[in-house]
Amino acid sequence: MIKKAVIPVAGFGTRFLPATKAIPKEMFPVLDKPAIQYVVEEAVASGLSDILMIVSRGKRSVEEHFDRNPELEALLERKGNQAERDAIRHISNLANIDFVWQKEMLGLGDAVRLARNHIGGEPFALLLGDTIIQSSIPATRQLMDIQAMFGGSVIGMETVPLDKVSRYGIIAGRKLVGGVYRVDGLVEKPAVHEAPSNLAIAGRYVLTADIFSCLEQISADGKGEIQLTDALRILLQQAPMHGVLLDGRRHDIGNKLDYLKANLWFGLQHPEIGKPLRTFLLELIAETECGEPSPHNLESDDESSHSN
Ligand code: G1P
Repeated sequence: MIKKAVIPVAGFGTRFLPATKAIPKEMFPVLDKPAIQYVVEEAVASGLSDILMIVSRGKRSVEEHFDRNPELEALLERKGNQAERDAIRHISNLANIDFVWQKEMLGLGDAVRLARNHIGGEPFALLLGDTIIQSSIPATRQLMDIQAMFGGSVIGMETVPLDKVSRYGIIAGRKLVGGVYRVDGLVEKPAVHEAPSNLAIAGRYVLTADIFSCLEQISADGKGEIQLTDALRILLQQAPMHGVLLDGRRHDIGNKLDYLKANLWFGLQHPEIGKPLRTFLLELIAETECGEPSPHNLESDDESSHSN
């Protein structure tokens, strides 16, 4: 039974500068929770109670978010804000979370390498901290179920438009049954004409501990980064590997457009703000169809005009 999850939260977040200069992208709010909380909640809902985060300089706020804050809890209690106090406490009770420091930003493969001591010899789940997946069966659970059937390592996939293949690790595979593929090859961020398919690695993996010895054989790429996908290619030579098309909606919070889309998506589903947000968006679209939106035409609502 897989119990351990690794969540790297160690990148620079360069696609989001200057916002990420002092705040990690994983702490950006998606509606009312930082993105990383959705990822931890997915791991916990999948049955993983032992989480290791790989952090680097400037990510202290991630640790603090999952720590207790007794003063804040006491304040909310005194004010009678029971629901908020419970929400705050819930975060620190979610799981056992340990932290390992990545001293130099040497890529995803290097971050995963640092989990070796914590993981030992068992298979583990790997969840990338800048991807939220909304689904009825938690995405990592979907991978764990396939791993229980086939053994070995399993990679979560989604199909992407061809013009986006160069943003992802891409898998060559043969369809076995349903959304399950036998992996034949993997390539990191190929050019469109070199991509073996449009099956993209979606930021969720279940890996056997053999990945660690594979990572030792990898040297840094042209950008000085150790790529996990290169180590997966070596792992593939040692044991069968499967890919599974994830059943759910993936939100990439690592770039501006997808981050905004994720906020709108979650906002539109919110019981209180969903309806007024929809009305606002429809008005905004109608207005922009007649020209550029003008700040003078947009009425501010009550909430946004208050400053707390
Ligand atoms: C990483 C992986 C890539 C994967 C992607 C998913 O890339 O290297 O294979 O497709 O995550 O988000 P990154 O986005 O960190 O550049």
